[in-house]
Amino acid sequence: MSDDAQTSQAWLELAPDYERARSREDSLDRLVEWPAQRDVLGDVTGRSVLDLGCGNGGKLAELAEAGATGSVGIDVSGNFLSPAPPGVEFIRGDLSGLDSLPELAGRTFDRILFLQSFGYAKDPVRTLRAARAMLADDGFIVLTKTQPIRYAVERAEQNGTSLGEEYFSAEPFSYVTGWNENISLTKRSYTISDLINVFSAAGLWIETAIEPQLSEDARRRYPHKQAWMNKYLGILIFKLRPGQP
Ligand SMILES: C[S@@+](CC[C@H](N)C(=O)[O-])C[C@H]1O[C@@H](n2cnc3c(N)ncnc32)[C@H](O)[C@@H]1O
Repeated sequence: MSDDAQTSQAWLELAPDYERARSREDSLDRLVEWPAQRDVLGDVTGRSVLDLGCGNGGKLAELAEAGATGSVGIDVSGNFLSPAPPGVEFIRGDLSGLDSLPELAGRTFDRILFLQSFGYAKDPVRTLRAARAMLADDGFIVLTKTQPIRYAVERAEQNGTSLGEEYFSAEPFSYVTGWNENISLTKRSYTISDLINVFSAAGLWIETAIEPQLSEDARRRYPHKQAWMNKYLGILIFKLRPGQP
């Protein structure tokens, strides 16, 4: 089985563990990531949203509640909220094959999301181009990604190597997720410049980049999470638009 097929297979098992971890009061998704992602999305009233790698679709459900309409969530795990919230359709599918999903043919969206899912694209430029082609006028993409430095720190510790050696290693790597210690995922290595070059090759420019952090209040309440952030930095959020600025 290829690394990609293995990773998709792993997500079939991992999906419920991920959602359980995400819903914890002290999860970084709850404390840092989703509030920052939500902020970049702004007012979604009357906007259609395509969420690629949507997990169970909980974030899309919140956006629908906030006024988004005609939205679609796609995930390889097929572990969706049931019934789907009004105004939301879920499709089990692969974000590496967007142009072969009949449900998406001829459709456009005001917002397209890759929230911690872009790393699973087999051909990142192709996937981003396909997403770009589905953007409505004045639409944008919100793409979030774990800081590549986080994985480099972990691997340097595990392998007894240095940060630079791991950060610049182009090899795919496997790691055991914090959501289930029996399941490992394989990821492509990215440096920050790789990411920027992928956006550029897909004909997108970065309108905004954000490195969200815990609020003062959350730092006080969850010092173990601040310790984690101090070591691993967190995620990157990019707001991407087609063409040149
Ligand atoms: C870290 S979770 C993020 C879920 C959600 N976007 C969020 O922010 O909470 C990654 C998601 O990507 C999905 N995924 C992994 N590979 C995929 C693929 N090839 N196509 C579609 N979804 C995929 C997984 O099933 C999982 O739901």
